[in-house]
Amino acid sequence: MGRPFPWILCVYVLLLSSSAGRCRAGITSSYRRKLAWSVDLPVDDPHLKAPEGYNAPQQVHIHQGDYEGRAVIISWVTQDEPGDGKVYYGQVQGGENSTFVTGQTYTYSFYNYTSGFLHHAVITGLEFSTKYFYTLGSGNVTREFWFTTPPESKLDTAYTFGVIGDLGQTADSLATLEHYMNGSGQALLFVGDLSYADVYPYHDNNRWDTWCRLIEPSAAYQPWIWTAGNHELDFLPEFGETIPFKPYTHRFHVPFRASNSTSPMWYSIKRGPATIIVLSSYSAFGKYTPQYVWLEAALKVVDRTVTPWLIVLIHAPLYNTHAGHYYEGEPMRVIFEPFFVQYKVDIIFAGHVHAYERTYPVSNVNYNIEDGQCTPAVNVSAPVYVVVGDGGNIEGLSSPSTRPQANYSAFREESFGHGVFEIQNYTHALFSWHRNQDGVQVAADSAVILNQFFS
Ligand SMILES: [Fe+2]
Repeated sequence: MGRPFPWILCVYVLLLSSSAGRCRAGITSSYRRKLAWSVDLPVDDPHLKAPEGYNAPQQVHIHQGDYEGRAVIISWVTQDEPGDGKVYYGQVQGGENSTFVTGQTYTYSFYNYTSGFLHHAVITGLEFSTKYFYTLGSGNVTREFWFTTPPESKLDTAYTFGVIGDLGQTADSLATLEHYMNGSGQALLFVGDLSYADVYPYHDNNRWDTWCRLIEPSAAYQPWIWTAGNHELDFLPEFGETIPFKPYTHRFHVPFRASNSTSPMWYSIKRGPATIIVLSSYSAFGKYTPQYVWLEAALKVVDRTVTPWLIVLIHAPLYNTHAGHYYEGEPMRVIFEPFFVQYKVDIIFAGHVHAYERTYPVSNVNYNIEDGQCTPAVNVSAPVYVVVGDGGNIEGLSSPSTRPQANYSAFREESFGHGVFEIQNYTHALFSWHRNQDGVQVAADSAVILNQFFS
């Protein structure tokens, strides 16, 4: 169910919604966030430490395991030996469930690093809107977690997604994570750049382990829907690491085949009232490429009377007025934006730029190399674009915004925080952005998002 929000916020968003569909003067926030940023938490920080006990399951995280929402992928690591690879699950709390699945176990090496045993187990045939408990490990290192499956997809369903990008593992990252966990998100849309392990010498993959332990308090209990960013490339050919995304694809499994994708870098799922399409900024996307062909087919099969909301996740934003990474998303915009307008995508979340920004529903699809019509314009069929690359990583915040603020930009600020996308019914959703320095109920920016298909 959707969360209640204060009446003051109601008034504010109603005022905003009354102006939906036309550009207004955008807001560049005058809020003064702290100027210094944090270094990564030390490896012995309590939030990064491995659980006690021989071969104790660690780095637990889950993902939706099918297209419909009736399967879950359970992923975890055992450091000392493979173990039995079993997940016991059911609706009984306390480790009493006798039903189990056995996962597949992988290891990988990266230059001078060798991983622990990475387990991925798929539980299928689950009921919608049901709480399940699951246990990993055995004896005195048995650990129990739980998750709740999404509601069955149908027209008038409420569901709340969190949105985080570019998280890293600093004190600011921890503040973002804890702030999010105090809110009402039921599943997290993660828009890329996870651990920032690649900022260390030889891309020290021990920092992948610490990051997966950092996020476990949330990611073991609700799915984090993964999008790959540039920090997942882990491309280090001078040291023999020539396969991009190697740590990422070993550690994070997604159900890409369920949406007829040929790569875990792009895929789609239905979750409650939404279809979520995940794209890869760092895979080929030109016409005739596998990602292009797949996206066109994936959009065609979306039934808005079943999943009225259509959400796209990418890493590099298509619209961004901050100076950082300016125009990096332009090639993908040229290729994919006509699809987003044609199929009336409601909202597109991106990261990469370490700041927050929300646009009006705009497009630039009329532009071609000859007509000179290259000004983004309000388009009632176009999505709202949101940049939430402000998770709090070691690289700090984006450089200051371009000025004057482009007319398609509704609100922008360079602070750490996270987003919440609260779908209330088939016509209305509330998006809000929560900076780390504020209380959990405070929205530094918010707007009613009108469903593009039904409005
Ligand atoms: Fe990035």
